[in-house]
Amino acid sequence: MPSKSIKWQAMAAIAASLAFGLSACKGKPAEEKAEAPTPAPTPAPKEAELPPAPSGFPEMKIPEDNQQTPDKIALGHQLFFDARLSVDGSRSCYSCHQNEHGNGGETPLAVGAEDKELTRHSPVIWNTGYFDAFYWDGRADSLEAQAKGAWGGGNMGVGKDNLAKKTAELAKIRGYKKQFAEVFPDEGMTPDTVAKAIAAYERTLICDDTAYDRYAEGDESALTDRQREGWALFMGKGQCAVCHAPPLFSSAMAAPGGLYYNVGIGTAGKPEDQVDVGRYAVTQRDADWAAFKIPSLRNVTKSAPYFHDGSVATLQEAVRIMASGGIDNKNKTALLADRGLSDAEHAALVAFLGALDCGGTLEQPDLPK
Ligand code: HEC
Ligand code: HEC
Repeated sequence: MPSKSIKWQAMAAIAASLAFGLSACKGKPAEEKAEAPTPAPTPAPKEAELPPAPSGFPEMKIPEDNQQTPDKIALGHQLFFDARLSVDGSRSCYSCHQNEHGNGGETPLAVGAEDKELTRHSPVIWNTGYFDAFYWDGRADSLEAQAKGAWGGGNMGVGKDNLAKKTAELAKIRGYKKQFAEVFPDEGMTPDTVAKAIAAYERTLICDDTAYDRYAEGDESALTDRQREGWALFMGKGQCAVCHAPPLFSSAMAAPGGLYYNVGIGTAGKPEDQVDVGRYAVTQRDADWAAFKIPSLRNVTKSAPYFHDGSVATLQEAVRIMASGGIDNKNKTALLADRGLSDAEHAALVAFLGALDCGGTLEQPDLPK
């Protein structure tokens, strides 16, 4: 029976200490270090042999100057879906963060306003309110800053110096004018209040109702035998939880400013000067070269293609790459190594990830006129 007393903070702390260079195998039974592939198939693990499943999310940090209110959230919901925010009326935030695609993007690289191809894949934004660094490289430090970045940058194509002009245009829409006067009586509609409302809406995009969550709350029948086997591998031999710690399935939240690793995606067959340097562009630290934020794996079955460059089409292949040590390059993290899993064990990991499917949907709101 999974223990409810294991708090995510404890898990995250363990994950963070592992990530900060302690032995990844410390305190684990010796057989988990085995390099040799195990013959398939393995019998379904008994409940007593399974790792405890942490449940319950941390408290979300809400900025003092942007408290959640129902009216603000409703306003942000409309803005998130409104293509009139973009330079050419072609894109809303939702265009690239659709529920249909697990809340990430459908194309390998996102295609912004005026059909400009961007350099990265749209990430899943369920539970994004729990991060404190945003984008694959963590260059934005709040959802408010991120929203202005997306709006002014290539995603929506408005240009960061034109946000005030665009806002003045949108303020002519009577429905917005009225709502902004009510929700932000002192400021009215400005680029900052637009970003605040969108961020408030994003903080409601919470995925905590998966089969895994039901299992962690004590419902053993919520996972199939195959999924339980995958769960044991995820926590044990596969060493996935070092970086994708439950219950958020990203350890990025475990450290201020986020955690970033080079697992080799986007480095194969490219001259160094053509590699997306990821976190390095933010910190200029060699250790961050081609390192990217650990994505959450919630809803991952629905969010193909995978990785920051959308370079992998299927979850099977993404898992195979991760479990077999990533892609070698000059800066690959030592925390990712070939775990010697069999095909059946890979399949069990994929099955377990299916237990992280989110039930929620984003509803299309009525847009103001
Ligand atoms: C053209 C597609 C596109 C549009 C439109 C778009 N985004 Fe994104 N979004 C992306 C891509 C691509 C990234 C990752 C970019 C990077 O890491 O450099 C991203 C990243 C994000 C993130 C960071 C998630 C994380 O885990 O760090 C959030 C939040 C987000 N977008 C919200 C928004 C909001 C709000 C809007 C509307 C104002 C928006 N997006 C519009 C493609 C898009
Ligand atoms: C050293 C930290 C680390 C470990 C260990 C790790 N991952 Fe990851 N994982 C990452 C990072 C970083 C990315 C994003 C890489 C990128 O896009 O450049 C990622 C991406 C993924 C993705 C793609 C998610 C998406 O939305 O595109 C999947 C699936 C995944 N990991 C599964 C696993 C599995 C399964 C294991 C265990 C076998 C594992 N990972 C172990 C750090 C890790």
